[in-house]
Amino acid sequence: MSKKRSKGRRIRGCSSESFIDAREVLSRLNLKGDEVFMDAGCGDGHAAIHAQKMLGDDAVVYALDSYQPSIEDLKRDVQRRGISNIVPIHGDIAGEVDLEDETVDVILMINVYHHFLENTDEAIAELKRITKAGGRVAVMDYKKMDTGYGPPLKHKQSPGEVEEAFKRHGLKMVQLDTEVGEELEDGTKSHYLIVFQKE
Ligand SMILES: C[S@@+](CC[C@H](N)C(=O)[O-])C[C@H]1O[C@@H](n2cnc3c(N)ncnc32)[C@H](O)[C@@H]1O
Repeated sequence: MSKKRSKGRRIRGCSSESFIDAREVLSRLNLKGDEVFMDAGCGDGHAAIHAQKMLGDDAVVYALDSYQPSIEDLKRDVQRRGISNIVPIHGDIAGEVDLEDETVDVILMINVYHHFLENTDEAIAELKRITKAGGRVAVMDYKKMDTGYGPPLKHKQSPGEVEEAFKRHGLKMVQLDTEVGEELEDGTKSHYLIVFQKE
C-alpha cells in the first residue's frame, strides 16, 4: 500500500489509487445521482473524489477515516480543488462516527473490511446505524488467496464469511461481483465486491 505521493497529490495515509480503478468500482454500484455517499476508510479519499465527480455538486459525499493526517490532507486537497460537498470526517467505523442515525444512502469500503477482524460486529453495527433504511453498504476487499500482496492470508475473508457477519446484523446481501480490481497473472481479478442492504 503506497505511503508516497501519487499523481502529484499528498498521501500521508494509505491509498489503493495506483492499482484500483475507483470509477470502475463506483460504476458497479449503479448510483442514481441523488444519494448521500460515504467513502469509509477513505485513506487519501480518491474514491470520494471520483464519487463527487459522478454525483455532482448537489450531492453530499462523506469521507471518513480514523487516521487524522489523512483527513487533514483531504481537507486541504478538497479546499485546493474548490470542492465544497466532500465532507472529511475523522472517526472510527468500529467505534463512533459523528453522524446521526440513518444519514447515508451508500457506503463504500475499499480495502478496509480486513481491518475489522477483531471488531467485526462493532464495525457492522456502526455502519448499519448510519445507513438509511433501504441504503447499502458495499465491501470491496482482497480475495482469500495467497497472492503475495495485500494483507496476510489470515486477515483476508471470503465473501461467504463477510455475508455471514452482515447477516448477524440483519443486513441482506443484494450483490456479489467476484471479479473486480487488479488483473492477476492468471487472468482473474484480485478483489470481490459484496453489497448489503438495510431493510
Ligand atoms: C488499506 S487503506 C485503504 C484506503 C482507501 N479506501 C483506498 O482504497 O485507497 C485502509 C484505510 O482504512 C482506514 N481504517 C482502518 N480502520 C479504520 C476504522 N476502524 N475506522 C475508520 N477508518 C479505518 C485506515 O486508516 C486506512 O486509511
